[in-house]
Amino acid sequence: MRGLIACAGKSTRLFPSTKVLSKQLLPLYDKPLIYYPISMLMKAGIKEIAIITNEDNFELYQKQLGDGSDFGISLQYFVDHKPMGTVGSFKVAQDFVRGQKVCFVLGDNFFYGEQFEKELKKAVSCGAGAYVFGYPVKNPRAFGVAEFDKNGKVTNLIEKPKDPPSNMAVTGIYVYDENCLDYAFKCPLSKRGEYEVTDLNNMYLKQGNLKLVKLSKKNYWLDAGNSESLFVASKYVRKMIKKTKHQIGHLDEIAYKCGYISKQKLQQNYETLKKTEYGKYLEKYLK
Ligand code: G1P
Repeated sequence: MRGLIACAGKSTRLFPSTKVLSKQLLPLYDKPLIYYPISMLMKAGIKEIAIITNEDNFELYQKQLGDGSDFGISLQYFVDHKPMGTVGSFKVAQDFVRGQKVCFVLGDNFFYGEQFEKELKKAVSCGAGAYVFGYPVKNPRAFGVAEFDKNGKVTNLIEKPKDPPSNMAVTGIYVYDENCLDYAFKCPLSKRGEYEVTDLNNMYLKQGNLKLVKLSKKNYWLDAGNSESLFVASKYVRKMIKKTKHQIGHLDEIAYKCGYISKQKLQQNYETLKKTEYGKYLEKYLK
């Protein structure tokens, strides 16, 4: 399975902070926001990842993350010259995703929780049809939302409904089988002028090939795409790190613990990081 991370948007919901810098390069507490979606993919065992950026930020992503070898993974970059919605990522990276199972993540989504990690691994190892992850929210109008029949079966997914049929938001991580690229090309332009991931998901649903995994409130999910939610997510990560003494989204640690890099490589990484708490955290592995 390959990973695809969508970071091509203009991040207008974070203006003026994102006038020259893509939001996924801004810090979420002590590391760039993009670290968190990469960490989820790495933990699920996915080591071949493509990042879709816009023209302005293409080189910055490469400078920030390189070819992935620091983390024992492969990172490739594709430019979306005319971002027109999340599904555009598939078209831009078509050579990367063709014939592949894909875990697709929206670069501003932050997830944390045991159930979530377990369910994602399960979906990744199954890899038939599509898996989406639902999370109960107070403001369903802001998201893709699931509609259920009286037996609790998903009957439809609606993007930003005016009159939400449930409070179950469809979060920004999706696991697809090899048909995803075909479906991406078949997606119609939506009313707001975008190619929507919700339409892609509805194609799987209509074929009877979509499973919605309900995440409990014990997990934490947030779309960190505006100043308030980015701040709330930062506070949450800080709180959890202090409370549990465990890091979140720490790519160097995850790479080492997953066996993607050697102790020697970790030591090398540490040398450039050791002035920060993020770096010092690695000392326990280097004794
Ligand atoms: C996108 C998707 C939406 C999903 C949300 C999750 O919305 O279109 O279905 O619920 O991400 O973060 P956007 O953030 O592009 O408005």
